[in-house]
Amino acid sequence: AEVVQLRRKLLSWYDREKRELPWRTLAVTEADVNIRTYAVWVSEVMLQQTQVATVTDYYNRWMKRWPTVQHLAAATLQEVNQMWAGLGYYSRGKRLHEGAQKVVSELKGQMPHTVDDLLKELPGVGRYTAAAVASIALGQVAGVVDGNVTRVLCRLRAIGADSTSPAANQALWGLANVLVDSERPGDFNQAMMELGARVCTPKGPLCSRCPVRAHCRSHQKVQVQQEQNTKKL
Ligand code: ADE
Repeated sequence: AEVVQLRRKLLSWYDREKRELPWRTLAVTEADVNIRTYAVWVSEVMLQQTQVATVTDYYNRWMKRWPTVQHLAAATLQEVNQMWAGLGYYSRGKRLHEGAQKVVSELKGQMPHTVDDLLKELPGVGRYTAAAVASIALGQVAGVVDGNVTRVLCRLRAIGADSTSPAANQALWGLANVLVDSERPGDFNQAMMELGARVCTPKGPLCSRCPVRAHCRSHQKVQVQQEQNTKKL
């Protein structure tokens, strides 16, 4: 029941506060599922090491030039690298191109449509990207853990341990999969990322603006501490 409340509050905050990003608009416009999967794959690979504000322009230009996986497969690597210029980590663009060629030549142009197939078929797609694409583009119930989500989950559950240890990583993925909303998994995951980017920030949490502070162990601890300090005074 507590988790139900948390999901509801997080999603209604997201509905009010979310940024209108191009790959989000596409996901709700009932675009062809193959195009949607391709588009979210492109956006998530761009977002791996680059900020949202920078990615938006690159993503729009990319999708205008190569609106489908078939268009991308027909491009040359040189064209892809030119388009990528400024985003950094060029191997990411190269892998998108390789993946597109594989989808066209080996998968009849059909993008993989499960977490396991995305992982298996697409070069450079790891656990995070596979789950992000499956949930955002395909509505599959898969939680995601990236840097922002790690910070949110650690504060939410007051996990003090080193979050980069294999055991902590395992626990975080388990938690993300328990929390994810089964009706709106893509929105839930993006809401967690957005909360980490804008409210539960690396510099420090802005708890007064947080829609799920009532569910947050770290916030509860701080509040108890403050109450005790007030009593002492
Ligand atoms: N970072 C990675 N994926 C993202 C997404 N879909 N929305 C916002 N930030 C992100």
